[in-house]
Amino acid sequence: RHGIMAMLTWTTIGLLALCHSSTAYTKFPPGFTFGVATASHQIEGAWNVNGKSENVWDRLSHTRPEMIADGTNGDIACDSYNRYLEDVEELEYLGVDFYRFSLSWARILPTGRIDYVNPDGIRYYNDLLDALAEKNIEPLVTLFHWDLPQTLQDLGGWTNPKMIDYFRDYADLCFKEFGTKIKSWITFNEPYEICEDAYGDEKKAPAVNSHGVGNYLCSDNLLKAHAESYHLYNETYRPVQNGRIMISINSIWYEPSDPANVQQVVLADVANQFKFGWFAHPIFTVEGGYPAVMVENVARQSAAEGLSKPRLEQFDDYWIQRIKGTSDFLGINHYTTHLITGPGVDPIAKSPSWLKDIGAVTTMEVGGDSASEWLRVVPTGFANLLRWCKSSYNDPPIYITENGFSDLGTLLDYDRIKYFNDYLSEILNVIYDDGVNVLGYTAWTLMDNFEWRAGFSERFGFYYVNITDPERPRTKKLSADYYRDLIANRELPQ
Ligand code: NOJ
Repeated sequence: RHGIMAMLTWTTIGLLALCHSSTAYTKFPPGFTFGVATASHQIEGAWNVNGKSENVWDRLSHTRPEMIADGTNGDIACDSYNRYLEDVEELEYLGVDFYRFSLSWARILPTGRIDYVNPDGIRYYNDLLDALAEKNIEPLVTLFHWDLPQTLQDLGGWTNPKMIDYFRDYADLCFKEFGTKIKSWITFNEPYEICEDAYGDEKKAPAVNSHGVGNYLCSDNLLKAHAESYHLYNETYRPVQNGRIMISINSIWYEPSDPANVQQVVLADVANQFKFGWFAHPIFTVEGGYPAVMVENVARQSAAEGLSKPRLEQFDDYWIQRIKGTSDFLGINHYTTHLITGPGVDPIAKSPSWLKDIGAVTTMEVGGDSASEWLRVVPTGFANLLRWCKSSYNDPPIYITENGFSDLGTLLDYDRIKYFNDYLSEILNVIYDDGVNVLGYTAWTLMDNFEWRAGFSERFGFYYVNITDPERPRTKKLSADYYRDLIANRELPQ
């Protein structure tokens, strides 16, 4: 049955795409907003200054520098802790409506718990928020963008169910301290990466490879922590602060390389459920809970491994209800599409631990190159993902919370400009032709920054950052002016 459903969905998406590939829309609808994004660990630096404690990325990059492509770390990064006013000047130059940034949990709560609040952490974010307010730039703030306090990782990190309380307490404090200035919140950035890459694999800190167990423990706890924070905001803070709260989910969008090949179509659909559906299905569908196809596949594979209990189990009814509907918008981070070419070992995904849970798939690189191995330029994949989100999740209001392109840092970044233009053009197509409710767009990223395990070797910024100079000078790239003009005109250049 799943195969037939997947085939139907795919055929519909394909037909829709065929019907209207030639119209080129340029104008963004009234009210559509534009922003740029960053994240605390990637830009702030000041890793051990004024009370900030160690986070899991400090630990990984200091103790296992060979895990970072160029051996760099976030000790200074873009020095935004000291240079946030320069950040705000750049934001003003671009003319963005909003700035998406994240709070460093270890800067605000050095032990990770609410037993001690670091006044300097509170001061830093208040200063930044005040500077943004002065320029009329709306903050869109992520509570957790991967930099877990090491103290909490020492207790098991996201595999520990106590994290539900710790995160809720941290969120509570942030709503209380900053909620009059911050009206738009994101609980988690890219839960897949947090759970799969950090606990099912070694791609992200704390790099615990649990062979298909910790990733699922993490998702249970993370989704509950998200839901508890949503309800707290909704019941206690929203009535007075009047804001909104959501989650940002990342996709590598999988497509069959041959849409007539049923096996590929099914594998692509299952892969999308394991990647995007894993976190979107529990929150954005009417029935809630993990996608059935995911629960079934993990159960089958767990039994084959001789385990007495599956590594992933469905939430009970209480939690299905508690998690369902807990996001005012669907936040989507999107960069790339991979093609499923058939069963076999996946050379790109480098064995996400769920691969064995679905029967291995082979994916193929398509589209133009970027500096990141995983990032191929496939604008039409973005449109297909957005149409699929509309039909799979009840036509949710959508914010694109990240989208961007990496190179080696050239100032004449024509490839980045083309990437933005082509991807934005697909957004217009799905808005006007398919009625997908996309309300805003966030480019990743303001300036070149610490790209996690790639260090500074892959650069996504509108501004070049010279990391050999302690002053961290920033230089505008061509794409900055492209984005600035686009925002000023609310229109793609013709
Ligand atoms: C997603 C992450 O949220 C962000 O931190 C990262 O830098 C970009 N993708 C680019 O890889």
